[in-house]
Amino acid sequence: MRYDTVILDLDGTITESAPGIMRSAAYALEKMGRPVPGEDVLRRFVGPPLVDSFIRYCGLTEAEAMEAIEIYRERHTVLGWKEARVYTGIAPMLIALKRAGAYIALASSKPLPLCKETLAYFGLLPLFDRLSAPPYSATKADKEQLILDALPARFEHACMIGDRRFDMDGARRSGVTAIGAGYGYGSEEELLVSGAQVYCPDVASLADHLLEGLPRMPGFFLSLEGSDGCGKSTQAALLRQFLEDAGYPVTYSREPGGCPISERIRDIILDVRSEGMSDECEALLYAASRAQHVHEVILPALRRGDVMLCDRFVDSSIAYQGVGRGLGDWVWEINRRAAENNMPNLTLFFDLNPDEAIRRRLNAAAADRLESEGDRFMRVVYDAFIGICEKHPDRIVRVDASGNIEQIRDRVRQIVVNRLTAVAKAV
Ligand code: TYD
Repeated sequence: MRYDTVILDLDGTITESAPGIMRSAAYALEKMGRPVPGEDVLRRFVGPPLVDSFIRYCGLTEAEAMEAIEIYRERHTVLGWKEARVYTGIAPMLIALKRAGAYIALASSKPLPLCKETLAYFGLLPLFDRLSAPPYSATKADKEQLILDALPARFEHACMIGDRRFDMDGARRSGVTAIGAGYGYGSEEELLVSGAQVYCPDVASLADHLLEGLPRMPGFFLSLEGSDGCGKSTQAALLRQFLEDAGYPVTYSREPGGCPISERIRDIILDVRSEGMSDECEALLYAASRAQHVHEVILPALRRGDVMLCDRFVDSSIAYQGVGRGLGDWVWEINRRAAENNMPNLTLFFDLNPDEAIRRRLNAAAADRLESEGDRFMRVVYDAFIGICEKHPDRIVRVDASGNIEQIRDRVRQIVVNRLTAVAKAV
C-alpha cells in the first residue's frame, strides 16, 4: 500500500462546499452593511480560516471579522452546510482505502461539530478513524498542528490531501507527503508553489494514485421493490440524488425498460391494447426485457464500480408473475437466466398496506394494464412480496412506506449508507 495513513482536508477536497460558504459569507457582510464582493472573491473564502479572509478580502478589522464570523455561522450552521456535495468518486475511494486497511483521518480548519455533521449527513463518518478540527470557539487553526493531531501513533507512509496552500504548507512542515487536489478551490500554481509533491487534477487521478495496486470498491447493486402505489418511484428519485451528492457514481434505471430494446418490450407489456396476452407471454417478456437490461446496463455499471440503482428487478417477476399469475417456480428459472445469476446486494421493499396503496392509486392518473388488475390481485402480490422478504432477510430490508415522504427518505438514506460503508469492512 502506497500510504497506510491518509489525511484529508474537507472543503474543496472531500466536499464541494463553495455555494454554502459563499452565500453565508455574503449574508454576514450584507447584515453588517458592508459591500459584498463578487463571486471570484467570495470563492477564495473556501478553505482558509474565515477570519483571514474577512480581513484580507473585505478590509475588516480583526474585531469586525469576529463579528462577521458570528453572523456567518447563523446561516451556515442551519442552511449553508447542507448546500454541499461530495465530489463524485470520493466515497468509493475512501471505502476501497478502508478495505485495504488504511487509517483515514480528517484535518480541517472548519469547526469540529460541523465536520462531523457533514460527514455523518453523507454517511462517510464511519470511514474515519479520527477527525482533527478546531472547536467552535477557535477562530484560527494551524494546519500543521491539525495534521500532527490527525496522525496515528504509528504509521509508515502518511499523506495529506488538500486543495489550498495551507494544506500543502502544513503537510510539508509535519513531514507527510503533500498531495494537491487540483479539482478543489486552489489553482495548480498555488498548490505546486506551496509544495505539493503530487498533483492530482481530478478525483480519478487521486484514486489512481492512492489505490495503485489495490482493489477498487466493487459495484453495488441496489434494487427497489413494492406494490403499485407505494411511493417507490418518488423515493428512487430522491435516493439517486442523495447518492450522487454523497460522492458515489450512480447508474439509475428501471424495469421493465432501462435501455432501448427493453423499453420497446415494456411498451408491448404495459399497453392496454395487449389485453389477452397470456400469462406465460407476459412473464417471458418481462424476463426478455430484463436479460437485455442486465447485459447492456446493469453488468457494465457494476463492472465500472457504480452504485446500480434499479427500480424493480427479479423480485417483481416472482411476486407478480410467479405468485400473482400463479406461474410458480418456472418464473424464477427464466429470471435467473435473464439476470445471469446476478441478484442485488441490497433490496428495499417499500411496505405499504395494500388497502392504503389502492386508496392512493384511486387518486392517481390513468392506470396501465397491470395497474388495472383488480384489488384482489394487488393483495396477492403484496402477500407474495412479504413472503419473498421473509425468504431473503439478509438481502431485503422492509421499509415502512406509510409515513410522509421526508420520513421515508431519511430512513432509506440511513439503510443505504450503512450498507455501503459496511462494504469497507467486508474483506
Ligand atoms: P411501472 O409503471 O413502472 O410501475 P411502478 O412505478 O409501480 O414500478 O410499471 C411496472 C409494472 O410492471 C408494475 O405494475 C409492476 C409490473 N411488473 C411485473 O409484473 N413484473 C416485473 O418483473 C416487473 C419488473 C414489473
